[in-house]
Amino acid sequence: MADITVRKIRFEFDERFDFDLEDQELGLTLSSMGLSLTMPHLEPYLIRTMKVALKEITDPVLAEDVRRFSQQEGHHFRNHADFNVKLRGHFEPDVGAELERIEAEMEADYQRFSQEKSLRWNAAYAEGFEAMTCSGALAMAEHGILEADATPGGELWPWHMAEEIEHRTVAFGVFEHLVGRYFYRVVFGARAQWHYLSYVRRFAKTMARGLGRELVSPRTPMTRAAGRNYLRTWSPRYDPAKIVIPPAVDALLARYSARAAS
Ligand SMILES: [Fe+2]
Ligand SMILES: [Fe+2]
Repeated sequence: MADITVRKIRFEFDERFDFDLEDQELGLTLSSMGLSLTMPHLEPYLIRTMKVALKEITDPVLAEDVRRFSQQEGHHFRNHADFNVKLRGHFEPDVGAELERIEAEMEADYQRFSQEKSLRWNAAYAEGFEAMTCSGALAMAEHGILEADATPGGELWPWHMAEEIEHRTVAFGVFEHLVGRYFYRVVFGARAQWHYLSYVRRFAKTMARGLGRELVSPRTPMTRAAGRNYLRTWSPRYDPAKIVIPPAVDALLARYSARAAS
């Protein structure tokens, strides 16, 4: 069984957003903000997928991991939804309205996927998203970015990304248990990543426009490490259980376990 702890935490966001950053840093920050805007749509979709998957899962250990995964994702998107209110409010009303319009489009996509797509398609989407997110979260941990929590949203990020690393085996386990076809995983996983990232980019571009700036794709040691981690997920031998977790991640998880308990 994966070692997954459900930590019920609600963060307070009294953000004063500082987007007066140089191009690369702004690109990275707005991409993170775009990621946040997707969460209240993406994560409930993952939870719906796992609810359907649970009916087919015959392994009780995996089933328990899935339940914990869904509870973690539930706490994630609720915090992001609170944060997103502040984020939209930072921009002029027309930009906030445009962000909401894109969110509605994304929500409609995910509702359609839940209703019309097969379980294996949705399971491949979930794994494609989780593998990509874990690649990025690990790179952030390796480069000390999680501890810094300097991104708007503060501790929302180290908490969320550490839990993404913690539950990294679950969507993969579900896909392998129910489908288990390598080419299906990489083809439809890549399709899912393209779908998801196209929304992150639209959000980031809309916010950049609202700031009177151009969106620059960030190229930093961290993004290059994320790219390398991501490429490894395409291997037929990829298994998230074998990933060596940086000690900083365990420290973060222990910190948030203590916080949730208090
Ligand atoms: Fe999450
Ligand atoms: Fe996740």
